[in-house]
Amino acid sequence: MQVLVYSDYDEMSAAAARMIASKIGELPKPVLGLATGSTPIGMYAELVRLHNEEGLDFSNVTTFNLDEYCGLDAEDPRSYHWFMKEHLFSHVNLDPEKAHVPAGNSADPDGECARYERLIKEAGGIDLQVLGIGMNGHIGFNEPGSDPNSRTRVVRLAEQTIEVNRAKGGLNALPGYAISMGIGTIMEARQILLLANGAGKAEIIRRALTGPVTPDVPASLLQTHPNVVCMLDKPAASLLDLS
Ligand code: PGA
Repeated sequence: MQVLVYSDYDEMSAAAARMIASKIGELPKPVLGLATGSTPIGMYAELVRLHNEEGLDFSNVTTFNLDEYCGLDAEDPRSYHWFMKEHLFSHVNLDPEKAHVPAGNSADPDGECARYERLIKEAGGIDLQVLGIGMNGHIGFNEPGSDPNSRTRVVRLAEQTIEVNRAKGGLNALPGYAISMGIGTIMEARQILLLANGAGKAEIIRRALTGPVTPDVPASLLQTHPNVVCMLDKPAASLLDLS
C-alpha cells in the first residue's frame, strides 16, 4: 500500500481528484467506484472545477456508488443518490444512465443487489474504487465482522454508524438498513483509493494500515489488496510511523 500524506484537507482532495482525472484520461471507458460521506466532498468539488475550468470529460465514464440506505429514493435529501447529484452528478457531463447507485427503494432488495453485481461485471469491473473509512473501520457499509468474501447485499447498520451519520447530516432519522457493495466486490477493484482526514480518524487509520488483518476492522483487509493508494491529511496520519 502506498501512503501519501498531505499538509491539509484541500491538498489531499486535490491530489485525489488528480488521480481520478488521470484515470479518466488514460482509459477509453473508465469505471469508477464512488463513495459518499464528508471525506470525499472536497475531491468532488475539485473534480467539478476540473470539468468546468480544464475540460475534464466524463462522457465515457461509468460510476458505481458503494451504498444506499434502504427505503430511500433518489429524491430523498437523506439518500446517497441525492448526495451524489448535489456534489458531482448534476455538475459534470456524466451520462445519468451510467451513474449507478443501488436502488434503496427497490421492492426486491435482494434482486437489486444481484442486479448491481451484474451491472458491475457487465461494465468490465471497477478500475478505481474510492473509499472513506468509518470510525469503526467500516468500508462502504461493511461493518465490523463482515465476511471478507461478501458481495452486494442488504446490511444492518451499526448503531454507531447511524448515530454518526445522523449527527453529521443534522437529520432526525435514518434507516437502519442499507444496500452495500460487499468486501469481496470492493476487493475486485483493480485499484483502490482510500481517503481519510482529521485527527478523529488517526487511530482507526493506524489500526487499518498497521494492525492485524481482521474482519473486525474491515479496512484492514485492504492490506491484502495489491494496488491501494491511501491519501491522508497530516492529522489523520499522526499515529503512523512513516519513517
Ligand atoms: P465520513 O464517513 O467520510 O463522513 O467520515 C466515512 C465512512 O463512514 O465511511
